Amino acid sequence: MSKLDVYAVIGNPIAHSKSPLIHTAFALQTAQSMRYEALLSPVDEFRESVTAFQQKGGKGLNITVPFKLEAYKCATHLTERAEMAQAVNTFKFEDSKILGDNTDGAGLVRDIEINLGVSIDSKRILLMGAGGAARGVILPILKKNPSILAIANRTPQKAQQLQQQFVAYGDIVSGGFMEFSGENFDIIINATSASLNDALPELPASIFAKDSLAYDMMYGHEPTRFLVFAKQNGAGYLADGMGMLVEQAAESFFLWRGIRPETADVIAQLKIGT
Ligand code: ATR
Repeated sequence: MSKLDVYAVIGNPIAHSKSPLIHTAFALQTAQSMRYEALLSPVDEFRESVTAFQQKGGKGLNITVPFKLEAYKCATHLTERAEMAQAVNTFKFEDSKILGDNTDGAGLVRDIEINLGVSIDSKRILLMGAGGAARGVILPILKKNPSILAIANRTPQKAQQLQQQFVAYGDIVSGGFMEFSGENFDIIINATSASLNDALPELPASIFAKDSLAYDMMYGHEPTRFLVFAKQNGAGYLADGMGMLVEQAAESFFLWRGIRPETADVIAQLKIGT
């Protein structure tokens, strides 16, 4: 019997992760001989946990909270999108080489363009937040040629730093949320961690229009406060981050196995489960 290739998601905590379910569904669908596990690492032993997994013959990892920055430092090689994100959510092991990639932004873009059918080309995009989650999606968004990318953050200086970092890749403006009062956008993406605490960034209601898509990178049982606010203020389309979760996984799977799994059924299955 041939040995199964082993992959895992590493984080702390990890019990809640949906990645094993998603990748197991992908493996079944594409008939890949592989197993996918959840790996709990002590917070101060990330590197050791990775090495031990590699030595056991592990082929690749997904990396989640709180290790994405450490993973960026651990990688021996980086893709351009991981380099620009300064964060890594996927490792592919090849002998002693650790390739670090970041599939979050590609997952978001695929969910918006393919699953939700909203093209980014020539659109006005507002990205809320300037932390790791926001930084991870900027390059993939800019590569889809929006007419403008506005980065808004509670602490405007951080948004300005991101603007400077990515200035060569497209038209970017930045500021505090209220600086965009009176303007509206085609796609408004919440990449702040506010929804985690059931909080709502102080947003001008004017940013939404009837054709706007409001997208929260978080997901949960109930619509987030951001999505409720967006609907109340006229956004015609709403989406949470469940599709992005599955799409970033599909992108990692593609990096490892060279096959792109179908995602629609897996997204539908997860939505029933939440
Ligand atoms: P992550 O990796 O999830 O991006 P992070 O790097 O800690 O986490 O960044 C959190 C982001 O959410 C920041 O943009 C933060 O704004 P500040 O830079 O001003 O701290 C934003 N954020 C968190 N809670 C928020 C709230 N209640 N209202 C507005 N923005 C919030």
